[in-house]
Amino acid sequence: MALADDIARVLFTEVQIQDRIRTMAAQISRDYAATAPLLVSVLKGALYFMADLSRAITIPITVDFMAITSYGDETASTGAVRLIKDLDEKITERHVLLVEDIIDTGLTADYLLRTLRARDPASLNICTLLDKAARRIVDTLPIQYRGFEVPDEFVVGYGLDHRQLYRNLPFIGVLKPEVIAAAR
Ligand code: PRP
Repeated sequence: MALADDIARVLFTEVQIQDRIRTMAAQISRDYAATAPLLVSVLKGALYFMADLSRAITIPITVDFMAITSYGDETASTGAVRLIKDLDEKITERHVLLVEDIIDTGLTADYLLRTLRARDPASLNICTLLDKAARRIVDTLPIQYRGFEVPDEFVVGYGLDHRQLYRNLPFIGVLKPEVIAAAR
């Protein structure tokens, strides 16, 4: 059985995603020309977006990665996370763009921004492929680039997972309810 058989409907096709990424990359290339920004992303969901976005950007950039794990229940209300892997590069006086696959409640991004801001970057903004604004708790995030708005449904593909699966789908879709129910 193919992975795609578990998808109820496709929200964004591979072509739509890649088109949108090219537009976002062109904007970033214009806005950050001559600043050699540092693109920072968090494993694992943003991996695919980071790979395609960075390759579509036409100015010099560097990339770096963080890995985080949640503290459990506390995370649901505060977004507090533990860094498993910190950045390799110093970000002081750098122009930093946090690259995310999805902003949902915004708690994770808010926590990461506070951590990064304490290191005095020259600027710090967010580029997210998906925005699930209906679930937002933190509404002060500096989202400078946004790919698509998504409805409040369980979306997978292109980095987004359900129990670690579906990340490698080249499109983004809504998971069939029975697949979610069967996993419970
Ligand atoms: C996802 C996504 C964001 C976060 C968004 O990561 O990559 O980091 O959730 O949710 P929030 O806005 O409600 O905080 P996830 O924890 O699923 O880990 P993953 O990247 O390994 O899939």
